[in-house]
Amino acid sequence: MNLQKLTSADIKKMSYNEIIGLVRETNRTPGGSKSVAYITQFCGLKKGKKVLDIGTSTGITALELGQFAGCDVIGIDINETSLAEATQRAKDLKINNIVKFQKDDAMNLSFPDKSFDVIFCGNVTSLLADRNKALKEYNRVLKDTGFLAAIPMYYIKRPSRKLVSDVSAAIQVNIKPQYKEDWVTFFTKDLFEPFVIKDFKFDKLSKKKVDDFCNIILARPHLKKLSSDAKKTLDVVYREYMQLFRINLAHMGFSILVLKKANKNIDPELFTSTEV
Ligand SMILES: C[S@@+](CC[C@H](N)C(=O)[O-])C[C@H]1O[C@@H](n2cnc3c(N)ncnc32)[C@H](O)[C@@H]1O
Repeated sequence: MNLQKLTSADIKKMSYNEIIGLVRETNRTPGGSKSVAYITQFCGLKKGKKVLDIGTSTGITALELGQFAGCDVIGIDINETSLAEATQRAKDLKINNIVKFQKDDAMNLSFPDKSFDVIFCGNVTSLLADRNKALKEYNRVLKDTGFLAAIPMYYIKRPSRKLVSDVSAAIQVNIKPQYKEDWVTFFTKDLFEPFVIKDFKFDKLSKKKVDDFCNIILARPHLKKLSSDAKKTLDVVYREYMQLFRINLAHMGFSILVLKKANKNIDPELFTSTEV
């Protein structure tokens, strides 16, 4: 992306996911490093295991999986600016021999059947136009003994219509509010069975904490290449996104779902249990 040529109008047209690539934000999966640590443990990730990170953005989950577990990771995304940043980070960390990035579409993966031990899809499935098609693709490229790790976000407190429509506009996806059971049903209705489910809620953050975070991101040296008009617009737009997400996440929680491929030859578990 040629920053000198970006206009204020170009920035106004960008979705939040495009802005992430522009500002080089470390966009984390829900729960961040803690979630990556749980997935590493629950999925038995170690050297030699092969992982696909769907919608990797600037690559933090893929990089942490490589660092924590030493496994081979391919991060895919449709956003080339974010992928370029992810590739640079792998080089800087000297783990580009095991953590690689490429352009690919979650709904039409370019990998052969049964290629991976773990498919990590974070909260990305909620952003896709055809979730069922993506789920079939995850199942196709996963080994029979493999795990699908998903971290869906959902409302634990009913949002106002205005909040839903503001967030829909920000991420350019028409959101229909989803609750925990919607996601568990979606992931386990046919192709996958639950293995581990752990529930969390987002902490409430102050406006100032989010402002301070924005100050750091918006002071990044590469953004000095923008014209002063474009930089002013970016400052306003990025702060608006982050304050909107702060308010939205105060209504939300997420679950770490580790799922295994459904096996019709084994009886389903009858006496299921819940951690207390
Ligand atoms: C919120 S960000 C990253 C989320 C984070 N990796 C996680 O685990 O939740 C979502 C990413 O999904 C990417 N994305 C959207 N549609 C996609 C598709 N069809 N295939 C692959 N990636 C996609 C976006 O470009 C964006 O970088």
